[in-house]
Amino acid sequence: MGKIKLGIVGFGCVGQGLHTALQQTKGINAEIVKICVKDRNKARSLPQEIFTYNVEDLLDHPEINTIVELIDDANAALEIVKAAILRGKAVVTANKKMLAEHLEELSDLARKHQVPLLYEGAVCGSIPIIRNLEEYYDNDLISSVHGIFNGSTNYILTKIAEEGQSYEEALAEAQALGFAETDPSLDVEGFDPKYKLTILLAHTYGLFVRPEEVFNLGISRLSTFDAQYAREKGFKIKLVARGKRVGEKVFALVAPQFIEAADPLARIDREFNAVVVEGAFSERQVFVGKGAGSLPTGSAVLSDISALSYGYQYEYKRHQQHLGAEYSHEAVLDVYLRYENPALVNFDDFESVTESYVGDEGNYITGSIHFDALVQAKWIHEPGNSLILNAGADFVPALPKKKKLANQLA
Ligand code: HSE
Repeated sequence: MGKIKLGIVGFGCVGQGLHTALQQTKGINAEIVKICVKDRNKARSLPQEIFTYNVEDLLDHPEINTIVELIDDANAALEIVKAAILRGKAVVTANKKMLAEHLEELSDLARKHQVPLLYEGAVCGSIPIIRNLEEYYDNDLISSVHGIFNGSTNYILTKIAEEGQSYEEALAEAQALGFAETDPSLDVEGFDPKYKLTILLAHTYGLFVRPEEVFNLGISRLSTFDAQYAREKGFKIKLVARGKRVGEKVFALVAPQFIEAADPLARIDREFNAVVVEGAFSERQVFVGKGAGSLPTGSAVLSDISALSYGYQYEYKRHQQHLGAEYSHEAVLDVYLRYENPALVNFDDFESVTESYVGDEGNYITGSIHFDALVQAKWIHEPGNSLILNAGADFVPALPKKKKLANQLA
């Protein structure tokens, strides 16, 4: 590609970060031709001539060869990205929801039209994880990819644990700093890290898994009792995304987890993210960086733009190699469950119980639960219940969940 002529869609937190980073990076042969924005009344930091309110002005522009999609609305983003690919323009996007929901379709479309579609900025902000999974680990067998994939919730958990802030105060700060999604329930209920995990499953195991197939629990129902329990045991609580392959089976989930002091995730605070990759030969590697924010995410988008200049495209090598992995729920997990009303817990869903405590301030049990039971248990989502993975817990392969006798007879 010669000079990269950019049409940017969206000029919010990430768009402005990209602009700043681009201005200060001399070695990159790229220029912003036009920026499409929605709000006509918002004061802008750049001359008015560069802006348009009609995305067709970018898609149809003869000079623009690259569309950088940085808007919030995943449905509108999908239409723009598809239109750009169909018109032969390279695409850089940071829209994790859109990508997670349509990754297979979009990667097929991009391959068919031979245009690059890059999205490093969609997963863990500044951490260069997708290109590393695509290129560096080509010959390795990755057993697990896990970590802290959401800056807002990590910021909130840090502020509550370290500074005694309330959940509401900490969330308001994460919003003010531009970390949180416009709809913050995507962060606090664990959807955003799930979208990122879904994208990484494609690059790690060659699996295109629908995000609705991946279980996610967030942090909104964690209580002071849970925080006290963690403190007493010397743990932190983090929202952890986990993908793991054992044999032909791949497991994935997002859930809060107790983290021991010796775990590298214990030192990842505020808006920092971490991705831990475990390979058969490389063993454990930890990538750490800012996972949210204007410049850190802008820097990942800038890096994709730079990669276009040497013709870089994802090859989805693991998908092409047909590694034979399949997405599965056939595992058990070690968990802690706090509950208020025992009538709202199905204790029969536990495979085994290691501890059971009933007290004035709260009740909990710890034990193992089949992943399939966890996915299907509606009672997990009752307001008085909070489920947290135990320290060190990971998927342990198991036989399929046995049907209860009553079900078998029904
Ligand atoms: N809301 C996201 C986060 C932004 O907090 O991590 C970066 O993807």
